[in-house]
Amino acid sequence: MSEQIGVIGAGTMGQGIAQVLAQSGFTVSLFDIASEPLERALEAIDRSLARLVDKQRLSEAESEEARQRLTTTTDLETLADCSVIIEAAPEQAALKEKLFSDLDRLAPHSILASNTSSLSLTGLAAVCERPERVVGMHFFNPVPVLKLVEIIRAEQTSDATVEKIEQLTEAMGKISVRIADSAGFAVNRLLVPMINEAVFLLQEGAASAEDIDTAMKLGAAHPMGPLALADLIGLDVCLAIMEVLNDGFADPKYRPCPLLRRMVDAGYLGRKTGRGFYSY
Ligand code: CAA
Repeated sequence: MSEQIGVIGAGTMGQGIAQVLAQSGFTVSLFDIASEPLERALEAIDRSLARLVDKQRLSEAESEEARQRLTTTTDLETLADCSVIIEAAPEQAALKEKLFSDLDRLAPHSILASNTSSLSLTGLAAVCERPERVVGMHFFNPVPVLKLVEIIRAEQTSDATVEKIEQLTEAMGKISVRIADSAGFAVNRLLVPMINEAVFLLQEGAASAEDIDTAMKLGAAHPMGPLALADLIGLDVCLAIMEVLNDGFADPKYRPCPLLRRMVDAGYLGRKTGRGFYSY
């Protein structure tokens, strides 16, 4: 059996990470607390693999082999044999801290990586007895398409842990950059304030959502406009990142736009709820 990697959380990010690992030859164990999200994740992975086969980017046989390397579990203890466990659970500090403290006990030999987009890795490492094996491994949505992984070093992370995650990133066909454990890391610190500013433009009535997005697509060659991107990322996630930047730097330039907050309060979170700045 090839090297075994665990993925925690069958949401959009966990699905994408599990798929790319399986395509890259790793044996993958995808964990979630219930079987329904795992079934939905496998269906989404099947659709994504079928798309790659249709586009002749993957052969039928490679797709089948990738699927065979992928299993699901609702028992966290079965991840104990994984060399690396990548956590992609919902972005809630208490939940992630509990998971890391459980994994610290259940998987004493695994490297514990978190895909958190906003929490401090140093704080997560602090709940573990062996904090030197805790590291950030931040992927970008859609994971099968976007090449970057930010590797975030907690204050406690060892060189050996960072090197192992660099090797894993490369084996997944991705490119890594190393970032210190600073609010928003690199990409979100640059990207999410731009999205927030686009929401200010919309709130002020300076331009329509469509025109704001067209402006950035055609005027700055972005693959999608900031408001469509907010819908893809999730408005709740964008707001959480702005709050982390606001708290982390205490600089008013990071204040979340009131319209963004109102949309989150209304439950208009973007694609995942069928409504955000656009309807889906
Ligand atoms: N899974 C697998 N493949 C996918 C996919 C998915 N979910 N979505 C798109 N693709 C593939 C398509 O199959 C297509 O492949 P080919 O080139 O072989 O044809 C390719 O990606 C391009 O897709 P489309 O032609 O459908 O559409 P597009 O050209 O408009 O691209 C996009 C769609 C890839 C989403 C592109 O618009 C894009 O890159 N947008 C920016 C996304 C971005 O910035 N993400 C980062 C968000 S921040 C984040 O994730 C971190 C955080 O912490 C919040």
